[in-house]
Amino acid sequence: MTNNFLKITMLALVIFAIAASGCTGDQTGDTIEETEEIPLYYVGTEPTFPPFEYTDETGEIIGFDIDLIKAIAADQGFEVEIQPIGFDALIPALQGGNIDIAASGMTITEEREKEVDFSAPYINAGLALAVAADNDEILGVDDLQGKIAAVQVGTTGSMKAHELLDAGILSEVKEFSTVDVVMMELISGGADVVINDLPVTEAYIKQQPGKIKIVDDKLTSESYGFAVKEGNKELLDMINTGLQNVIADGTYDELLAKYFG
Ligand code: ARG
Repeated sequence: MTNNFLKITMLALVIFAIAASGCTGDQTGDTIEETEEIPLYYVGTEPTFPPFEYTDETGEIIGFDIDLIKAIAADQGFEVEIQPIGFDALIPALQGGNIDIAASGMTITEEREKEVDFSAPYINAGLALAVAADNDEILGVDDLQGKIAAVQVGTTGSMKAHELLDAGILSEVKEFSTVDVVMMELISGGADVVINDLPVTEAYIKQQPGKIKIVDDKLTSESYGFAVKEGNKELLDMINTGLQNVIADGTYDELLAKYFG
């Protein structure tokens, strides 16, 4: 008797709960579209890094990384808003919650792994040396004794330059916040060498032919990853799954062809 009473009471409660939740749904939105919110994530990038991220004539930020993170977002059902930000400010911005994702040709390094979480690598690159087109003196790292390097602040190129400075090879390292200014410094003779990611220096040469040239082989081999705040597993899982999906469905190869083809 008591048992049956309990069962009926429970059943009534369950029915009431279902009815109540149905009611709430009806009251809060007229259409399903309005009640289902698409999450928005802020993507930080330093956009002087073609073909990965740069601005077009209209000032819009475009590039391989931008298209790729947008494709991943579309696959995973979230939206992104692209925010330009200094390269050395990306990790602090992730940590402070000002951006959710860094999509900025960021090399996965041990040091950075301690500060943020990286997606699976999405492309390989590496550092190369560049000199003025008419420089016949510097043919490789061995010719950098007493020379001045220009680099972008906070980058692996900057780290490499400081290694060479500390080893007593370079005489000075000049840091600039954007890559176009780094290149200008080389062209104007304020620096003897630039240490920068090879595909980006190649893109610069394509755009401004005859001013600088690449010497030596790649100095390093590096992999780029998207970064999120340490512990943001939910977002990282979406990025990784989305990345796998856009590789599998051919979107990734289309983007490679579009920006590197
Ligand atoms: N790959 C280098 C690094 O992680 C340089 C990246 C610079 N990226 C940029 N968007 N400016 O340090």
